[in-house]
Amino acid sequence: MSSMHRFLHLVVAATLWLPMLSAVAADSATARKAGAWTDLRLQHPIIGDVQAGHAKSAVCAACHGPQGVAVAPNFPNLAGQSATYLYVQLKTFKSGQRKDPIMSGQTAALSDADMRNLAAYYAALPAKPAGHADAASRGGRLFLDGDPDQGVPPCQGCHGPTGQGPRVYPSDAPQPPWSTFPRLQGQSAIYVTKELGDFGSGARSGTSNALIMQSVAKSLGDADIQALSAYIATQ
Ligand code: HEC
Ligand code: HEC
Repeated sequence: MSSMHRFLHLVVAATLWLPMLSAVAADSATARKAGAWTDLRLQHPIIGDVQAGHAKSAVCAACHGPQGVAVAPNFPNLAGQSATYLYVQLKTFKSGQRKDPIMSGQTAALSDADMRNLAAYYAALPAKPAGHADAASRGGRLFLDGDPDQGVPPCQGCHGPTGQGPRVYPSDAPQPPWSTFPRLQGQSAIYVTKELGDFGSGARSGTSNALIMQSVAKSLGDADIQALSAYIATQ
């Protein structure tokens, strides 16, 4: 199969999987408490004011870099990320659904408009240039093909064959329900390892998307996480 063909196949497989996961989650959410998690399939595309976002971003640059490329490997790159994804993350830090002592402080004083503008600003910046990932490595094989015996889905089914994410910003085209899925390409190994750990432990929770990644993270052993983190960092 050509890699494009394989990617389309995986995207179809992944989107078929989503309602199934949500249905399972919906049952347990009803049993626990209605509205205990946010259904991101209903998230509208984010339109923000790039100039206003730039004006608000001075404080963020200390960690995320003046051009949205992180100054150290414990911080994520924001440049070229999906605007819808960025907005949702800022909201979940503010609400406490995603727990991080630094970012909950950073978002405490941000208004909804600030978060939209910051999301639009970082989405519009040029992403970090692609690296030279080794597709034949253990991380590459897990990312591209998954490990059916172990129950690991192919990451590219939702994150794209080069980890570029499902959307390129900006675009006037209508956004699909998965515009809240992130780009991963070039995030540092330290950051990716930390996030997979947070999904596994439940520190990153509270949305339909976090529930998807919680089950993905639980399918991975420590060596898998290490291999995937190294691969994504070089994508
Ligand atoms: C002192 C350092 C610091 C500052 C200042 C800071 N951040 Fe962060 N940011 C972090 C860290 C650390 C994380 C990763 C948190 C985690 O592991 O969940 C993060 C994560 C994020 C994420 C999630 C990215 C992703 O890929 O999921 C967004 C969005 C973000 N920050 C936006 C901002 C914005 C906007 C500002 C300014 C208002 C800001 N940050 C200021 C350290 C910082
Ligand atoms: C069925 C779709 C799907 C699959 C398959 C999938 N992911 Fe994800 N991933 C998501 C979604 C949706 C999010 C956003 C979660 C959130 O908003 O909390 C995400 C988030 C992430 C993040 C956090 C990114 C950031 O910037 O903080 C990492 C890291 C990640 N995924 C790695 C992986 C890896 C590695 C695999 C393969 C083993 C994988 N994902 C497979 C849908 C998927």
